[in-house]
Amino acid sequence: MACRSSRIRFIVVRSCVISFIVTFFFQFMASFRNDNSSENLSAITLADEELFWRKLYNDDKYLTEEERIKAMESSDRLTIKRELNWTKIFLDNYARKLLKINERDALTIYKKRIEKYAKVTTQEKYDIFEETLVFGRPKFCTAAHIFHPQCPYSNCRWTCDKSSTNQNGLRRANIFHHVDIEHDEMIDKLGNRSSDDIWILWIDEANRQISHLNQYQFNWTLSFRQDSEVSLGTYGILIEKDQNKISSDNALPHNSELIRILTKNNVLIDDVTLENRIFVNYRFRYRHALWFVSNCEPQHRLNYYKELKAHYPISAFGLCVDKRCDKNHDCEHSQSHLGLFYLAFESQTCKDYITEKFWRALYYGMIPIVLGPSKQSYLDLGVPESAFIHVDDYQSPRELANHLHQISNDYVIYRKYFQWLNQYEVFYDINVLEPIRMCELCMRLNMQESRDHSFYSDVHEWHRNGCQS
Ligand SMILES: *[C@@H]1O[C@H](CO)[C@@H](O)[C@H](O)[C@H]1NC(C)=O
Ligand SMILES: *[C@@H]1O[C@H](CO)[C@@H](O)[C@H](O)[C@H]1NC(C)=O
Ligand SMILES: *[C@@H]1O[C@H](CO)[C@@H](O)[C@H](O)[C@H]1NC(C)=O
Repeated sequence: MACRSSRIRFIVVRSCVISFIVTFFFQFMASFRNDNSSENLSAITLADEELFWRKLYNDDKYLTEEERIKAMESSDRLTIKRELNWTKIFLDNYARKLLKINERDALTIYKKRIEKYAKVTTQEKYDIFEETLVFGRPKFCTAAHIFHPQCPYSNCRWTCDKSSTNQNGLRRANIFHHVDIEHDEMIDKLGNRSSDDIWILWIDEANRQISHLNQYQFNWTLSFRQDSEVSLGTYGILIEKDQNKISSDNALPHNSELIRILTKNNVLIDDVTLENRIFVNYRFRYRHALWFVSNCEPQHRLNYYKELKAHYPISAFGLCVDKRCDKNHDCEHSQSHLGLFYLAFESQTCKDYITEKFWRALYYGMIPIVLGPSKQSYLDLGVPESAFIHVDDYQSPRELANHLHQISNDYVIYRKYFQWLNQYEVFYDINVLEPIRMCELCMRLNMQESRDHSFYSDVHEWHRNGCQS
């Protein structure tokens, strides 16, 4: 059985059934196995079911955090590593994204071009210039691989070495990072701007006052907003898996107690490996939600947290709450294996502003509870509705807490939140995301036609539009 490996980290998925995993599965099932029952699935009673869960609870009661994490990590090793399929990334994400761009600019004709250009790589070179620092430092000046090796566009060159004028009439993209823009320098640069140059404002933060940037008439934006020319994978991305590559060689342990319980509850298991993984997480995680908070200013989310905490246990880390994790990676990593839920509360409520917290929760196998942009923003990014909980769907924190208790106490409900793992992989590591973003940039340059000329007359208004202050 071949499990292809890749440098890219991601969560998984399907059934690459490695023998030790199966052993593991049988091992934890062994104590509940009833070899005579496999012929008669309906024989299980409610009392048997209760006994099953009670026994598990008693067995695990005294496990340490380390033992729990270790048990879950064994089931994580199921991860199948696969190469990204760029055609798929762009076709899937663009179908949704183009609608957003057309909402902003009815004249945009990219939609018509996607089919035509998706596979074409022209000989022409595009130069992308890093015009400013990025948070005070050069960003990709010395980077060897800015565009993912599988990016279908290989005719873009990133450089920090710019000749002042565009003598060759080449297409040039000029990247300006919002907080690093200096007015004096810009006056100079404006004097040398050619109408063939595409000035791009890079802004990944929400709710900034950027009205002073209007004067530069940026042609494009690179941001988290879906209606930006370049926006894929700002903080995370779900990528649909190639269905035809998914094998179905599951060794189904027909006689296990859990399978019987699920069968009784009309749950059909089509992927034992995935079921195993969900079950192990359900079994070893504590019945609480996690919250990591570093910015204590936004009152709305703090108040929501306090009210929710009154009705459902929350283990919170940060300056304005009781526990400290001092942004230590190990602490956050291990805690992320121990909570069922994760409060992915955004500091700003802006359209499409969904930061790494959310993707991180998905990555670690927690159910994200989100507060921030509308539910539609999440759906627009291709996140299945069944993968997260939006606070707007509940009348009050108390009502949400009731639902959290329900999920915590009912595996049949809990497992529904993880069925997306069948279909998608989640990526939130910046080293994976940046090459996706830059590949999109190169793709957009390739789609550009010489007659296209556009700019943001009020980029500040565009950026603030969709934010609640
Ligand atoms: C990538 O995805 C596309 C679109 O779904 C598909 O047609 C193609 O066969 C896939 N390529 C590979 C190498 O799997
Ligand atoms: C603009 O062009 C002039 C003349 O070619 C050059 O001396 C100057 O350095 C350029 N400025 C910038 C910011 O590139
Ligand atoms: C970029 O914006 C400027 C406005 O300053 C405009 O003159 C130019 O045509 C635009 N270029 C492109 C390629 O859209």
